[in-house]
Parts: sequence; C-alpha cells; structure tokens
Amino acid sequence: MQKPDSEVRLCWPTKREPSRSAGAVLKATKGGHSPFELVLGDNLAALHALRARERRYTLAYLDPPFFTGREHTEVVRTRTQDGAIARGFTRAFDDRWSDLGAYLAVSAERIAAVRDLLEENGCMVLHVDPKTSHYLKIVCDEIFGRAAFASEIVWRYRRWPAKTKNFQRVHDILLRYVKNPRVEPRFYQLYEPLAASTLQTWGKKKQRAVVDESGRRKRSSITEHDTPGAPLGDVWEIGIVAPVARERTGYPTQKPEALLERLIRACTQSGDAVLDPYLGSGTSLAVAARLGRAGTGIDVNQRSIQLTRQRLKQLEVSPRESRLAMGPGTVASADRAVRRVRSVA
Ligand SMILES: C[S@@+](CC[C@H](N)C(=O)[O-])C[C@H]1O[C@@H](n2cnc3c(N)ncnc32)[C@H](O)[C@@H]1O
Repeated sequence: MQKPDSEVRLCWPTKREPSRSAGAVLKATKGGHSPFELVLGDNLAALHALRARERRYTLAYLDPPFFTGREHTEVVRTRTQDGAIARGFTRAFDDRWSDLGAYLAVSAERIAAVRDLLEENGCMVLHVDPKTSHYLKIVCDEIFGRAAFASEIVWRYRRWPAKTKNFQRVHDILLRYVKNPRVEPRFYQLYEPLAASTLQTWGKKKQRAVVDESGRRKRSSITEHDTPGAPLGDVWEIGIVAPVARERTGYPTQKPEALLERLIRACTQSGDAVLDPYLGSGTSLAVAARLGRAGTGIDVNQRSIQLTRQRLKQLEVSPRESRLAMGPGTVASADRAVRRVRSVA
C-alpha cells in the first residue's frame, strides 16, 4: 500500500534551512493610498518585511532567473543628436551562479518566504524552465507539502527555430502549489475552444455524461444549453511577446500579458492581491491593475520599478513605492548569499 506522505527530500551539499528572520523594514519613498506597491531591493529581505506587516496575498507569481548562466541585457533605444534612433544594451539582471546548489538554495529561501505570505485559500505559481523544474518541484514539495501540489502547467510557445540536433525547446513549466490543501482554493474555471472533432459530433451544445448504476460514464448526450467550451487544460499555447507587440517593453524575458491574465483570472477575484517578487517589466501588476486586483512587486533592479511604474501609469494607477532599509546588523543572510554567488561567477 502507498504511504500517505513519504519523506523524499532533495539534498545537496550547500542546502540550508530557509531563514525566516525579519530585520529589514520597508521605507516609503512615494506615499499615497494605492492598492499597488513597488519595492526596490532584494526580494528575500522584502518578503520578510512584508510578513512583519501582516499583508497576505491570494496569488504569488514567481518568475525567477532560469539558471541560464548568462547576464541578461535590456535593449535601450536613444535618440542621437541628428534625430536618429540608436539601439544599445544595458545590464538588466545577472543569472550566473557558482553551481546548481547555490541556485536551489537561493530559490528555496524565497519560495518559503512567499508561502508565509499567502492567504489560506491562496496559491503560488513558480515559473521555471525544464532544466530546473524537476529539482524545484521537489523543493516545493518539501516547503508546501506534497498534498499542496495543484498543477504543472506547460506554457507552449512558438519562436524562431534554434540550430540544434535536438527537438526544439518550446515550453516553460509553471508549478502551482496551494497554501493549505485542506482549504478550498480560490479557483475560477476557465474554458478553451472545443476541439474540431467535438464540434463536429456534438455541435456547440453542452454535453451531459450518461452514467451506469456504478456511476461510470457510459456515453454522452447533449443538453439544450450552449457550452462555454472545454474546461481549460494544463497545456497552454500562448505566443511570446513579439518584437513589434504593443506590450513589449524591451526588458529581457518579459512574459506575455495573456499568460498572466489566465493565472490571475483563474486564481483570484476582484479586489484580491497579487504578489510578484521577481517583477521584471511588471507584467503581472499591469494585468492585475487591468483586472481590478491589487498588487505588490519587488525587484532589485531600479529599471524594473521604473518600467512597472510606467505601465501602471498607462492604466491610471499610481503605485506606492518603497525600498528596503536595513536595521543594524541585518543584511539578510540570503542577500549576502546572492552577492557571494554573483562574485563567484
Ligand atoms: C525573469 S525576470 C522577470 C520577468 C517578468 N516576469 C516580466 O514579465 O517582465 C526576473 C527578475 O527578477 C529580478 N531578480 C532576480 N533576483 C532578485 C532578487 N534576489 N531580488 C529581487 N529581484 C530579483 C531581476 O532583476 C529580474 O528583473
């Protein structure tokens, strides 16, 4: 018989217990009573500071660096003196690590800190790629408990083919964990269009399962009602942000609004708060604002805060802003670790 919860753990030499120490505080730099807040600074210290404030979130979306071993740059366009547009590059964020263990340790601490900030009916979505998703899934199982695992969403996109003697890599992984598996999670069913074969057989009417005495489905019949479509599955085909798309900001690894819209619509309702500790160009908060949600975004890169502020402004939202202020002797341990990792690289 299968045991209810086996004690399978991932071990690596530099693994450490996630620290839960507070210490840093958030110092307001732009006031106001906005439902949106942008925090400049390392996300671990910021997450601890938010916990001390007793703020809770219904959805946390984490899109960390993917362990690419690269420094990511942003395309910046400037106007030259003769009026021409010049394209340049500026450093956006560093994704170089001493080894996989360092990456996992830094990730685990942040995932644990995010879990503490979720509402009991809330969930976390961790967006990663297939090179690390299997490790991080075990890390998440350990932090949340295996019963809290809700979905593995495959985001499938199309892009310019790479020269490779391999199958083209065209998907990312989004791991969804609920905070408390004993509580009904916030979840709104979304639908996708019916398959051509279903339409041919059943048309646009809702189907009904005809079951036998034991409750097993024997066949289907149709009802008089129109169907909203098929309940959304866990493989999502959504285009990447095209170079000419209106939503394009130039920030590297920007995710499409359509992807965030699905997550936010499915996992939150109007007025709920979304947390994004790896804010980047601010896609999650821009979508949250458009859908009438509240939100907090954190990033170490000043440019990320600036871009998100601009995106929110286009939606007539002025966020509060703050930055981390460290108390005496409170340079967060993981912050030190990140810097150590970066200096090793
Ligand atoms: C992959 S990008 C996020 C992209 C974003 N989802 C978007 O749609 O634009 C990761 C972001 O996390 C930020 N970041 C990485 N490590 C961080 C840390 N320890 N604390 C705060 N921000 C961090 C980087 O500066 C970068 O902007």
